[in-house]
Amino acid sequence: MEDNLLASASSTDRGSWNSKLGFILAAAGSAVGLGNIWGFPTQVADNGGAAFLIIYLLTSFLIGFPVMVAEITIGRKTGKNPVGAFKALSSSKFFPLVGLWGVICGVMILSFYTVIAGWAFGYAFEEIFYTIGLDQAAVWIQDVGNGSKNALVAAVFMLATIKIITGGVSEGIERATKTMMPLLIGVLLIMIIYVLFQPGSSEGIVAYLLPDFSLIDSDLIFSAMGQSFFSLSLGMGALITYGSYLSKKENIPQAAAFVTLADVGIAFLAGLLIIPAMYLAQSNGVEIFKDSGQLIDSTTLVFTVLPALFHSMGTIGVIFGVTFFLLLSIAALTSTISLLEVPVSYAIDEYNVTRKKSAWTIGLGILAISMVIAFRPDFIDYFVIVFNNIGLPAGGFLISVFIAYIWKTDNALEEMSHGFAGIKESLFAKVWPVFIKYICPLAILYTLIQMIGIF
Ligand code: PHE
Repeated sequence: MEDNLLASASSTDRGSWNSKLGFILAAAGSAVGLGNIWGFPTQVADNGGAAFLIIYLLTSFLIGFPVMVAEITIGRKTGKNPVGAFKALSSSKFFPLVGLWGVICGVMILSFYTVIAGWAFGYAFEEIFYTIGLDQAAVWIQDVGNGSKNALVAAVFMLATIKIITGGVSEGIERATKTMMPLLIGVLLIMIIYVLFQPGSSEGIVAYLLPDFSLIDSDLIFSAMGQSFFSLSLGMGALITYGSYLSKKENIPQAAAFVTLADVGIAFLAGLLIIPAMYLAQSNGVEIFKDSGQLIDSTTLVFTVLPALFHSMGTIGVIFGVTFFLLLSIAALTSTISLLEVPVSYAIDEYNVTRKKSAWTIGLGILAISMVIAFRPDFIDYFVIVFNNIGLPAGGFLISVFIAYIWKTDNALEEMSHGFAGIKESLFAKVWPVFIKYICPLAILYTLIQMIGIF
C-alpha cells in the first residue's frame, strides 16, 4: 500500500503502481468514462452517424495510439509531471509551457466533467426514486437545469475525487476498475440486445453502421480528432503523469494497445446502444433532432434517451438503470481522478507541497469553476471547443514534435526497450517513428488549420 501512487501522503514519495495490471487498469480507468458514453454517441448523432464512427476509429488508432505510447514513454523516462518531464528532457524554455498548457486543459476539463458526472450519479437515484414512488424527488434529481442541485452533486463528486487522491485507495481503484469494466460491457451488451429487438431500432442501426461518406467534412474530422483525444485521455499529460509511476519492467506499446482497444471498444458498444435508442425515443415522441437535422440539446441528450429507455422496460429497467448509472459514475470517477492527479502531481513536484494540501487546494479551486458551470451548463460547449477539441490535439501535436525533433524517437525507443526486449528488431520500431515524426503532427496540424475555416 505504501508504494502506491495515490497512497503516498508525503510530497517526496511519488509512489508507483502495484503491478502491471495496476497501471493498465488505472490508465484504462482514466480513458473509459463520460467520453465513451456521453461524448461519443452524442458526437455520432451530431456528425452524420457511421461516417463519424469511421473517422473516429482512424483518428483513435492512427493518431491516438502513437501519441499514447509517446506520453507514457516520456512519463516513465522522467518520472515527472508534464511540466517537469519536458524540463528534464530538454533545455527548451518552450516545452515546459506545453506541459503547463496540459495542466490548464486538465483543470478546465475537470471543472465541467464533474457537473456531467454529477448528472450521471443523480440519474442512478432518479431510477430508485421513480420506482419507490418519490416522484417529486425523481423530478428534482433529474432536472439538469437546476443549478443548485447540479452544484450539490458536482460537489459530492469532487469531494470523492479529492478523497481518493489524498487518501490512498489506489488498490480500491484498481479493484473497482477491474470489476467495473466487465460489468459495464455486460450491461451494454444486454441492453443492446434488448434495443435491437424493439421495432423501430433498425433505423438507428443503419445510421450508426452504414456510412454516408459525403458527410465527411473538416468539421466532422475536427470533432472526431477532439473526441479521440478526449476519450483516450491524451494531449494534456494525464498519461505522462500515470506513466511516471510505471515500472521499467512493463511493455509500453502493449499496455497502450490494450488501453486503446478497451476504450474504443466500449465507445463502439455505447454507440450501438444509444444511437438506436435515440431513434426509438424519437418514434415514441421524444424530440431529438431539429428539422435541420441537428440535435436539440447535445449536452443532455444521453440523459434524456437512456432513462426513457430504462423506464420503458418496467421493473427490470430499474435494475438496469441503477446499475448502468452507478457503473457510469464509477467510470467517471476513475477519469476525474486522473484529471486531478495531473495538476496535483505538478504542484507536488514543482512547488514541493504535500499531496494532501495540493489535492485540497486545487480540487476546491476547480470546484469553484464547476459551481459556475452548474448554473450555466450551456458554457460546457465552449469549454469543449477550447480545451478539448483544440487544446488536446494541440497538446498531442506538440508532444509528437517534441519526441520527433527534440528528444528524438531513438531515445524514446531505447526507453521502451525496458519491458520490450526485442523492440529494436520489431515492426513497431519501424512504424511508430514514422507516425510520430510525420503522420501524427501533420494530421493534427491539418485538422486544426481546417478548423480555422469552420469558425
Ligand atoms: N478519457 C476520459 C473520458 O473519456 C476523460 C479524460 C480526458 C480523462 C483527459 C483524463 C484526461 O471520460
